[in-house]
Amino acid sequence: MDIPVLTIDGPSGAGKGTVSRLIAQKLGWHYLDSGAIYRALALELTEKDVLHESIAEIVDVALGMDLVFECSEDRAVLLNGQDITDLLGLESTGNNASKIASIPEIRAALLQKQHDFKQAPGLVADGRDMGTVVFSEAKYKVFLTASASERAERRYKQLKEKGIDANLSEITADIQERDQRDSERQISPLVPAADAIYIDSSTISVQAVVDEVLSLVR
Ligand code: DC
Repeated sequence: MDIPVLTIDGPSGAGKGTVSRLIAQKLGWHYLDSGAIYRALALELTEKDVLHESIAEIVDVALGMDLVFECSEDRAVLLNGQDITDLLGLESTGNNASKIASIPEIRAALLQKQHDFKQAPGLVADGRDMGTVVFSEAKYKVFLTASASERAERRYKQLKEKGIDANLSEITADIQERDQRDSERQISPLVPAADAIYIDSSTISVQAVVDEVLSLVR
């Protein structure tokens, strides 16, 4: 049976995670947060203090990661049995993930972990290269973006709500730096797939984005 895949790619803070989770719930499909895999590897490398070691060593760590995404309500992520959900969301984790994600051997090592998520009845895959590389055969493809200032505002609000001290201009600079690194890298850069529909969420609600994507799949 051909398992349907919906890819949702785009820059950080465009709302991919929220939209993808809602759609996966609605359709009863599996959900892949590919960014979390890169983030988990960045954490593991920092923990083992091998972030600056040889690529071969880093690839070994990538292949040996025991990563579990729990399907329970709180969607905990376990790395080698340890709950890393809170650490995954840190800005520093995202920035380190973006740095290691530009190394081709690392991307290749993480490919199988991502392919394993393609299971019946379907998959919603969120990331940067889901529609262009990892699931280039996907039937449904979306590129979800928003202006850098809107994405920075959203991130700022999220952090404040969590009681974390945040600085809007630092967040904006971080977002711009990450966009540039993710878009300009040689391998699997952040670009819309030729057959993706393009949605700018700057001025529309999450529900409006979800409705538009669902109408594509249905
Ligand atoms: O989506 P995110 O913010 O959790 O992703 C963190 C970083 O991981 C992102 O800046 C680039 C990298 N990444 C990637 O290169 N390819 C993906 N499919 C997902 C994330």
